[in-house]
Amino acid sequence: MADNKFKRTLITTALPYANGPVHIGHLAGVYVPADIYARYLRLKGEEVLMIGGSDEHGVPIALKAKAEGITPQEVVDRYHNIIKRSFEEFGISFDIYSRTTSKIHAELASEFFRTLYEKGEFIEQTSSQYYDEEAKQFLADRYITGKCPHCGNERAYGDQCESCGTSLSPTDLINPKSAISGSVPVMKETTHWYLPLNKHEAFLKEWILEGHKEWKSNVYGQCKSWLDMGLQPRAVSRDLDWGIPVPVKGAEGKVLYVWFDAPIGYISNTKELLPDSWEKWWKQEDTKLVHFIGKDNIVFHCIVFPSMLKAEGSYILPENVPANEFLNLEGDKISTSRNWAVWLHEYLNDFPEKQDVLRYVLTANAPETKDNDFTWKDFQARNNNELVAILGNFVNRALVLTHKYFDGKVPERNEYTDYDHDTLAEFAGIKQNLEHNLENYRFRDALKEAMNLARIGNKYLADTEPWKIAKTDMGKVATIMNLSLQITANLAIAFEPFLPFSSSRLKEMLRIDSLNWSQLGSDNLLEAGHQLGSPFLLFEKIEDAAIEAQIQKLLDTKKANELKEHKAAPAKTNISFDDFMKMDIRIGTILEAELVPKTSKLIKLKIDTGIDQRTVVSGIAEYFKPEEIIGQQVSVLVNLEPRKLKGIESQGMILMAENADGKLVFVQPSAKVIPGSEVR
Ligand code: MF3
Ligand code: ZN
Repeated sequence: MADNKFKRTLITTALPYANGPVHIGHLAGVYVPADIYARYLRLKGEEVLMIGGSDEHGVPIALKAKAEGITPQEVVDRYHNIIKRSFEEFGISFDIYSRTTSKIHAELASEFFRTLYEKGEFIEQTSSQYYDEEAKQFLADRYITGKCPHCGNERAYGDQCESCGTSLSPTDLINPKSAISGSVPVMKETTHWYLPLNKHEAFLKEWILEGHKEWKSNVYGQCKSWLDMGLQPRAVSRDLDWGIPVPVKGAEGKVLYVWFDAPIGYISNTKELLPDSWEKWWKQEDTKLVHFIGKDNIVFHCIVFPSMLKAEGSYILPENVPANEFLNLEGDKISTSRNWAVWLHEYLNDFPEKQDVLRYVLTANAPETKDNDFTWKDFQARNNNELVAILGNFVNRALVLTHKYFDGKVPERNEYTDYDHDTLAEFAGIKQNLEHNLENYRFRDALKEAMNLARIGNKYLADTEPWKIAKTDMGKVATIMNLSLQITANLAIAFEPFLPFSSSRLKEMLRIDSLNWSQLGSDNLLEAGHQLGSPFLLFEKIEDAAIEAQIQKLLDTKKANELKEHKAAPAKTNISFDDFMKMDIRIGTILEAELVPKTSKLIKLKIDTGIDQRTVVSGIAEYFKPEEIIGQQVSVLVNLEPRKLKGIESQGMILMAENADGKLVFVQPSAKVIPGSEVR
């Protein structure tokens, strides 16, 4: 371990809200880096725990349940299972993945609250908040809607206007209304418990700003700006009927604030896993606690939760909080409500068994120091140019050549040349760089180093050209293949943290079971005479069509969102009047209509254009039955260059517009006109 004051590492991963499935942003920001780190430490033989679970309380979950007419428990049951399964499928190697609706968690969170309460670590404050007299309950900020004072949006929430993005408080709203009953809420006094963060400010400044200058600059910077602004007491209870009841007399109808109970989930999940030894992981100074999170969670993990732990008194504090920035998708912020995401369960339907490809791309492109963009073109390029062309290619050549020249047995090695020695020395350097990067949470750079090992292998084969000397010097070929196979076995170690599925397939191909990190860099991983399995491809090329289909899916989402928000597409660039006059648009009458065989979208029409009767093929079969449209008048662009669609020549184009449901409708004259009438 880099720092030998630690004996074990406790890795926590932000508990995702169980109100939707998980997407690539979650994976890139938190779970893949945490998993790489955990796998690396395990491979080194260290004592490690990786803790995860679902965050199942909070207002959005209660709201979703209300909207769907089901209980909050039903909401979280559904998503907890989907999320848990996605993580399993992507090889995220949790020691436990539990949930905050577990009994153990409710007990531990209550106990934690009681301890702080009894130690006098809270202050009690009474304030006025909106209350719904019909529903007889206080309204969380999200439960109040009204007009935004900044942009006039009529459906702003009590915490934020989603139209202009401004943060609001409920009293900012003009004409506030309860989202539960629709009634006008009244102000009513309510009492809550607050954690006085200001009391811990001096300690936090010392601990973070002086003691943890090594934290990532994005994390350190955010902490510094919070601490410079000065901390305020924060409410740790809410008036809500979904959550863990506040364990104090007279607190009926109040629950722990979700951000109070959720981080305690890390502890209760550890306790669920290790009922007898969990305290060693949370209360001994020789445990290194590391929180993996996204940037929106920094204040809770660096300021609020440590204050809670400190106030409780018996817990250790995090040694590091390597938070990541955000991953965008094709240039836009990932958004669950706008369905702008690549969902993990959908990805696996479209790219079965390609977990490692996504893990690779998300690591290579991880938002470690700034927001980053995921694009499908980059995904394809990294797969084809790196995984296939470098890693897969080298492994395949090493195995195929060994089968060709040595019947798939590792050949006995002879004297190394100077070049062989240089090659070996190069990969000793890689081991050091890999470790240095991994231990400092620089997973992108670490992955690059692992890939460099495969590059060394490729270069070695390209330079030594064993296929050219096979006729003259089999002794030399044996040495080359031996060393190439040793490099291959090294790749199985180096890539295990990043690409666990491929690493185990590679081990299968090499017929070796376990390898550990300390063997990395060795040229004695495979004994002479060892029989290898048959080669198969570790990665396959991803074709344009698969990528285009994904891009199309996103374009469809964008279109659907624009329709929902009634946003018109932006205007195209101006054209001249002459350009416009070049178009010859006529009103015609549909005389005949039939489906084009073997297609689902096309209808073949015969149209009386007034000029002639002509055939037009139109992509409207999803919206109309052929027999329904005969006799209708439509607008036809008659001087469009004829083109063939499914072997039928289409002589013109019917003009259509899209309605609010995204369905196409005809652009028609408002009164009957004679066929051939010009549209001007
Ligand atoms: N559910 C929160 C989110 O998705 C994260 C909670 S992390 C924990 O932003 F510390 F509270 F568990
Ligand atoms: Zn607004």
